[in-house]
Amino acid sequence: MPSPPLEPAALIARALAEHGRDCAIAFSGAEDVVLLAYARQSGLPFRVFTLDTGRLHPETYEFLDRVERHFALRIEVLFPDAAAVEALVRAKGLFSFRVDGHEECCRIRKVAPLRRYLAGLRAWITGQRRDQSPTRSSLEQVETDSAFQGRDGAPLIKYNPLAHMTLAEVWTVIRALELPYNPLHERGYLSIGCAPCTRPVLPGQHEREGRWWWEEATRKECGLHRRPAPPKE
Ligand code: ADX
Ligand code: SF4
Repeated sequence: MPSPPLEPAALIARALAEHGRDCAIAFSGAEDVVLLAYARQSGLPFRVFTLDTGRLHPETYEFLDRVERHFALRIEVLFPDAAAVEALVRAKGLFSFRVDGHEECCRIRKVAPLRRYLAGLRAWITGQRRDQSPTRSSLEQVETDSAFQGRDGAPLIKYNPLAHMTLAEVWTVIRALELPYNPLHERGYLSIGCAPCTRPVLPGQHEREGRWWWEEATRKECGLHRRPAPPKE
């Protein structure tokens, strides 16, 4: 029998108490602002980082600034390797992902900086949820990261405290706690990533349909959250 989900705020407090500065919250500039609110409720100090791909919406940059002021903290902004971005753009142009898929661009702009940063940590906290994607339907609240390693090559613990929450529940918390949110949400954007790879969705459409809409639902992962393949039947 699977055990009942852990309470998200309690799990975040546990992660922060256990790992201190060896743990950081991954903030995407969207509704995972809830993670920061729960971290603040714990009364413990916490680190927050974001991956600036260079292709975010202007609204997201403004939102990052608002979040810093709201919580009186500094977000650690990670940038991709300039030479790697230059080489990609020189070889394939600014929109290569529309032609041969998003993996290469995401690898350079997101995954490589994340790998470098996580190599200094023991644990990280994400806002992933099961209802976000078919690829996340069996997501655990605490797992060993199967894609990245921590300091000294040690296994990295990955906390997904919101795994069992629905999008609607997340928004109930945002409203109840009067948290700041990305203004793009008022314009039909549900899930928010890079500007050229995100678009608003229509009522009734799944949030993920606004991301990399030219690709299959099962390919809509950018490499931040690779999971082990399910066992063969
Ligand atoms: S993605 O892999 O498809 O881009 P998604 O947008 O669903 O991820 O976000 C899931 C979680 O990944 C977020 O709640 C956040 O913890 C983390 N994340 C996504 N994008 C970023 C980013 N640019 N910077 C930091 N963390 C991010
Ligand atoms: Fe590049 Fe799009 Fe991936 Fe952003 S989401 S890193 S623009 S492919």
